[in-house]
Parts: sequence; structure tokens; C-alpha cells
Amino acid sequence: ETLTNNFVIDDEVVKNIFKPREDFSHKGSYGKVTIVGGSYGKIGAAVLATKSALKTGAGLTFTLAPKCGYEILQTSCPEAMFIEGGADYVNDFIIDENSSCGVGPGLGTEAETVKNFLKFLKSYSKSMVIDADALNIISQDKKNLNLIQKKSIITPHPKEFERLFGETENSFERLELAKEKAHELGIFIVLKDHHTQVITPEGNVFYNITGNSGLAKGGSGDILTGILTSFLAQHYTEEEAAILGVWFHGKAAEFASEKYSKESMLPTDVIHEFGNVFTELNEKVQ
Ligand code: APR
Ligand code: MG
Repeated sequence: ETLTNNFVIDDEVVKNIFKPREDFSHKGSYGKVTIVGGSYGKIGAAVLATKSALKTGAGLTFTLAPKCGYEILQTSCPEAMFIEGGADYVNDFIIDENSSCGVGPGLGTEAETVKNFLKFLKSYSKSMVIDADALNIISQDKKNLNLIQKKSIITPHPKEFERLFGETENSFERLELAKEKAHELGIFIVLKDHHTQVITPEGNVFYNITGNSGLAKGGSGDILTGILTSFLAQHYTEEEAAILGVWFHGKAAEFASEKYSKESMLPTDVIHEFGNVFTELNEKVQ
């Protein structure tokens, strides 16, 4: 067992990270996001991640998705720009190095997608947010793990974690393995669960205590990817983005469950509560 520090993500931690919006600023001050994902039948995942990035304050948001998602994305997220990366799935990874990239939601694992995603991973020089099918692609060959850019944030749920790094007996062993891998690969692991843990490359663990079982629905993870990518674009460090992001996601879920119940709340409703979370954050730092 490694000797490391454990922290709870409380109000104090969040308050010290959050940067309120400046009066003298413009869209360039808040960065560019590129969400990469969506495939035929899973365009919704790209919509949710895109909308989340937009609603968490990113300056400019692009979605790289297949053509079959064009009208859906332009209609549901008119503030975002569409980049066509294929017909029914993404096979062309055209990503601006000046943007922060969040890849995976609804991406699919078509052979062309796999081949070109791995090529992109090899050539891209910045840290990024890696989720869902992008993680499933990486899992196909353990050697792919070394292609992940240092300081990237990966967001596996327990099953994706197991596919990436192998089986563990219980959640304690899983956390130990996560610390080992975060250190070895120099990445941030957001281990998604009831109490999500952010594991840093140094092996520190930040426990999130916001959120609830209303998030146990398809699409909840996709909105986390949008939040994290947006915070990266807004010049938070990878560590700050991960910590603030998981707290923010859970807090929005708490607002949504108060209004709609844990049963009925949808990831879309969670996105609609982002404004209330920012209001609370702004009050905290006052
Ligand atoms: N309490 C608190 N938080 C929860 C709970 C719970 N009981 N259940 C889920 N969550 C949170 C997790 O912490 C995580 O942030 O909701 C999110 C769920 O993320 P995912 O498991 O990735 O779920 P999902 O959005 O459905 O993923 C969409 O991506 O992972 C792939 O194959 C998966 O097709 C699916 C897609
Ligand atoms: Mg997911």
C-alpha cells in the first residue's frame, strides 16, 4: 500500500479552486472545447456532453461527430459548432490543439474509429478527458495505455476500470490499483461511483460527497465529460478541473432531485441546474 493523502472535497476545497467570471473578459478568455463522440443511435451522448460544456461557461464549443448527428446537434445545441468526422461514426479526428478535448461519449468502437482514435492519441500533444468508448478502445490492448498523454483525466465507471486495468476483489483493492496506475501513467483517474474518487498522479485521493442515485441513469457520465472538458478549457489545471468537476456534477444532481425526485430527474434536468450551482459557488467566494 502506498502512503498517500486522502481528502474530502468539501466547500473549502471547492471555494479555493473556483474562479468567478471577470468583467473585463471575452469568449477568448474562457477557452475552446472540442467534444468528440456520437455515432448512429448514440448522438444523444454527444449532445449531453456538448450541452454540458456550453452550460459550464466555455468560450467556444465544437462537436466533432458523424454527419448523421449534424441536424440533431445544430438544433439541440445551436451555440456549438459542428465538425463532420464521418458518416455514421467518427473516423476523422480533426482536433484543434488550441482546444481542450473530451473524447468518448457515444463514440462507438467501429474498426475505423478504433484505428484512427489510436492514431490521434499518438499524435496529440495535450492532456485530454477520456471517457466511455474511448476507454473501451484503449482497453482492447494494454499497450494502448502508454499512448495516453500525461495529465489526462480518464473517467471510468467500475466496469470500464476493470476493462482497463483488470479485476479487483473489492473497492479498496480497486482504489489501490487506481493509485498505482495513476502514478505509473502520470494521469488523473476519476473513479466514478456513489462517492467518486479523483486519484492524482502523486497518488492523492479526493473523495466527492455530492450527488445521488438520481444519477444512476444513462447519460449522467456524458455530462460529467462535458463539465471536465469545459473546466480544462477555462484554464483550470487538470487536478482542479477534476476536483471541481465531480463536485459540480453531484451538486447539480442534488438541485435536480429536489425539484424532480431521484427517480424522475434526467441528465438534461441536471444540466438545467448548472446555473444554481454557479450561483452557490459565486456566493461562496464572495
Ligand atoms: N450515486 C451517486 N452518483 C452516481 C450514482 C449513485 N448511486 N450512480 C451513478 N452516479 C454517477 C457516477 O458517479 C457517474 O458520474 O453518475 C455517473 C454515471 O456515469 P456512467 O457510469 O459513465 O454512466 P452513463 O452516462 O450511462 O454512461 C453512458 O458511456 O460508460 C458508457 O457504456 C456506458 O453507454 C454508456 C455511456
Ligand atoms: Mg459513461
